[in-house]
Amino acid sequence: MTSTRYVAALDQGTTSTRCMLFDREGRMVSLAQREHHQHYPRAGWVEHDPMEIWDIVCRVVPEALADAGASPDQVVGLGITNQRETTVVWDRHTGRPVHNAIVWQDTRSSAVLPRIAADLPETEIQDRCGLPLVTYFSGPKVRWLLDSSPSLRARAEAGDLLFGTIDSWLVWNLTGGTNGGLHVTDVTNASRTMLMNLTTLDWDPDLLEAMRVPRAMLPEIRATVGSFGSTVAPVAGIPLTAVIGDQQASLFGQAGFDRGDAKCTFGTGGFLLLNTGSAPVRSQHGLITTVAHKMEDEPAAYALEGSIAVAGALVQWFRDSLGLIRSAAEIETQALTVTDNGGCYVVPAFTGLYAPHWEPEARGVIVGLTSYVTKAHLCRAVLEATAWQTKEILDAMNADADVPLRRLAVDGGMTADNLLMQTIADFLDIPVVRPMVAETVSRGAAYAAGLGAGYWPDREVLRRHWRRAAEWQPAMSAPAREAEFARWRRAVEMAVAWGA
Ligand code: G3P
Repeated sequence: MTSTRYVAALDQGTTSTRCMLFDREGRMVSLAQREHHQHYPRAGWVEHDPMEIWDIVCRVVPEALADAGASPDQVVGLGITNQRETTVVWDRHTGRPVHNAIVWQDTRSSAVLPRIAADLPETEIQDRCGLPLVTYFSGPKVRWLLDSSPSLRARAEAGDLLFGTIDSWLVWNLTGGTNGGLHVTDVTNASRTMLMNLTTLDWDPDLLEAMRVPRAMLPEIRATVGSFGSTVAPVAGIPLTAVIGDQQASLFGQAGFDRGDAKCTFGTGGFLLLNTGSAPVRSQHGLITTVAHKMEDEPAAYALEGSIAVAGALVQWFRDSLGLIRSAAEIETQALTVTDNGGCYVVPAFTGLYAPHWEPEARGVIVGLTSYVTKAHLCRAVLEATAWQTKEILDAMNADADVPLRRLAVDGGMTADNLLMQTIADFLDIPVVRPMVAETVSRGAAYAAGLGAGYWPDREVLRRHWRRAAEWQPAMSAPAREAEFARWRRAVEMAVAWGA
């Protein structure tokens, strides 16, 4: 009797790590998930412990297999997807990280940005890698780390240290670590480092020079779908057939394979990606250019991306730091008890503002407070903050692209919030549509891995898996939207002014 075959996804995100198995119909058949600690050593600094993340991977992979009652040889391919930009540097001989991972949200590298710009003008940097010179990306984080310690720099130059985004760290460990682990990454992750040239899809010598990153510490860049070796640990023998950054994975999981396809994921942050096809489009309106995916025998597909640093993280802050709500879901129940924001606006510029503003020094503000404002009004303002930030991205996207987006496909944890989805439809004035499977990041990694393993013959089969679960139609008058948007923009100006 032939046993059922599966494809697996390992999704290492900002707050948790999940492993899932999918069947040939694209249905999720098992899930294991664990959270890791967030470390905030100083204001603006955010770190993860790479060993803790690896230990969690060693638990969730066997747990997901056990949950499905599957043995490793029933898994034809594993796809890795991950929080992007987060930077790990480890010793190739001991396998130990030399520092905690510096997370994408971390702003400590602001001090090295002027040094980088002095070595290579920002316009040159942006031309080569499609990214603005800000703290978000990995290159400045590596430069900060090596600038902060002459001994680390000497070890990096001697070839004793390895750099990687989380995907590289995991693949190296999964494929044997100090016993022959592969030091590789894929084009989507490499496109977030600020070290890869978008046209050659290889490390750019001038960018390496400007970030002072020794070539010897960099992984080999491979196509998204292809061969990344086989697992040695925590279970042996599963082929690694795809690696893809998490936001690109959710575009893939929404079947966004072609030019004109778009999606917005609402997790810790918010990320709207528009597939622009085989040519990189340079934004004139504050978006970034990134690689969407690359099949081994095809040219790369590129995307325009609007990144929002803080979306779900604001709800989390309301719950964990302010204690105003007990669960994330309560933000919606509270907000539904009032009909508007009571005149109050929250701009969550905790780590500056990302697209389209790119104001690293901006800081969060709550404006419009009166004694009339209640917790419920604040909860509504929290949801509206995500919706307004999405509108700003959509406006930039429409200004850059030849064809306006006519509907927005959404996914991620926050899409369970119906009031938020309705507010987004109202503020953007287009329908918002959520697919049946909201786990699009893992699903995208599984799709990519399944294509790599020949589990699915082509992308057409995958496109047929997409099913609509819910749709929200805009229902706000244009004058009301414009008046509210003007007030939001004033609040944003205050957040920028506060950091100036
Ligand atoms: O660029 C950062 C992004 O990849 C993080 O995604 O879902 O882990 O918050 P998430």
